[in-house]
Amino acid sequence: MQQAVKVVGIGGSSRPGSTAELGLRVVLAEAARLGAEVSLVSGADLVMPLYDPRVAGCPPQARRLLAEVASADGVVLASPAYHGTVSGLLKNALDYTEELRDDTRPYLSDRAVGCLSVGMGWQGAVTTLAALRDVVHALRGWTTPLGVALNSATAGFGADGECSDPHIQQQLTAMAGQVVEFAEARRAHRALRAEAVHA
Ligand SMILES: Cc1cc2nc3c(=O)[nH]c(=O)nc-3n(C[C@H](O)[C@H](O)[C@H](O)COP(=O)(O)O)c2cc1C
Repeated sequence: MQQAVKVVGIGGSSRPGSTAELGLRVVLAEAARLGAEVSLVSGADLVMPLYDPRVAGCPPQARRLLAEVASADGVVLASPAYHGTVSGLLKNALDYTEELRDDTRPYLSDRAVGCLSVGMGWQGAVTTLAALRDVVHALRGWTTPLGVALNSATAGFGADGECSDPHIQQQLTAMAGQVVEFAEARRAHRALRAEAVHA
């Protein structure tokens, strides 16, 4: 039987209980239900100096983030809309993936990436989702066909973090399914390639 795929969620809001993190947790819970091993790096975990390619070595938060990304088969990114685009917290974290440029799977390559954005309205949510997907492409990741844009003025999450809006829940569930399905397919493909090399 194939080993469980690993999915890491990266949450770009520093506000505890943010809609972005609630949505991200729903996606990760669904991925876990589908058999993935999941982890979350979010908010305070990402507070670190601005990435500077001239500086050798990474702070501990960046080392943890990079280890999580390097070992992941799938990634889920969640960002609030800040002035129409991705939060600085998340963008800085993604800039640190420059340190993975010489990996066997550089940056986000070979990984399924689901993107979730949250705005205080639709315009910011949608522009942020598009920006997130552009960044993923620049990092050679495979965005899932479905991205999810949420409006925090209407997004329904209860105090327990449960999603109370069936349509949003359905979208988050579908995106989790696409991340896990692609991650499993790529994992199987790598295993086949490795077998062929050793045959
Ligand atoms: C600095 C800053 C800039 C923001 N810019 C936008 C924006 O351009 N468009 C928008 O819809 N919401 C904007 N917002 C609202 C956030 O996207 C809001 O926090 C979002 O709805 C996420 O809610 P959450 O904190 O519950 O995750 C901004 C908030 C902050 C703090």
